[in-house]
Amino acid sequence: MILLETVHELRAWRHQAGRVLLVPTMGALHEGHASLVREARRLAGDSARVAATIFVNPLQFGPNEDFDRYPRTLEADLRLCEEAGADLVFAPPVHEVYHPDRSISITESSLSTVLCGASRPGHFDGVCTVVAKLFNLVQPDEALFGRKDYQQLAVIRRLVRDLDIPVVIHGVETVREPDGLAMSSRNRYLTPEERAQAPALQAALRRARDAWLAGEQDVPRLLRAIREHVAVNAPLCREDYVSIVDPGSLQPLARVEHHAVALLAFWFGRARLIDNLELRR
Ligand code: PAF
Repeated sequence: MILLETVHELRAWRHQAGRVLLVPTMGALHEGHASLVREARRLAGDSARVAATIFVNPLQFGPNEDFDRYPRTLEADLRLCEEAGADLVFAPPVHEVYHPDRSISITESSLSTVLCGASRPGHFDGVCTVVAKLFNLVQPDEALFGRKDYQQLAVIRRLVRDLDIPVVIHGVETVREPDGLAMSSRNRYLTPEERAQAPALQAALRRARDAWLAGEQDVPRLLRAIREHVAVNAPLCREDYVSIVDPGSLQPLARVEHHAVALLAFWFGRARLIDNLELRR
């Protein structure tokens, strides 16, 4: 596996690489990222190349968010990428990616207005801008993203569609701890007490799905079931949002008939955790 840090080297590699599958990451990699790289390796077969990028993108962090303390674990990340089957890791410093006088960014103005976008103004502009840049730098044929970041995946699909970017996007299933907690780089911020309560988030979503499968279609009642479960089982956390939305538009629904997605974000101390679950038969 090759590690590159400059755009110049990356361009030379890309020139001779043939078909490329990309896994963009911010590092602090865990089993969820490993599954993305393994899936990329599986799709690539022996002939195509698998590239991962490791770049903590300052543009997608708000002024009071965790950019400075976001975990940076490059040595371990490189081992994980190699073991999962990557051929290349591109891990540039910030000045390789952003010009000091940069003046263009990309705004998605519909899907980004709700859920995490409402709580984190500018976040998805930062994601769109860096993903478009990473696509231009690596020029992948296909790219893989985790479904845990459901809204991010929807925004990136819209980015690619609306700007005619010739990259096929794959969404890959969330990897969970044995107790149901979705893997996340931010789980390492949790205290042991918070960690013990955090699986209640996914359990609450399952409870709502079970109620829906048993016939409850009213969204306010489904949301109440989620909030009650979290309040009882995870008293240490504080709600950012809980919502049940249309999977295409991400707009809130009043009733769920055939298909919806339930999403939530909760604060455990300084860790903001997100999760989601599709309601479909
Ligand atoms: O999901 C992430 O890790 C980041 O948002 C991404 C897509 C790599 C862009 O910085």
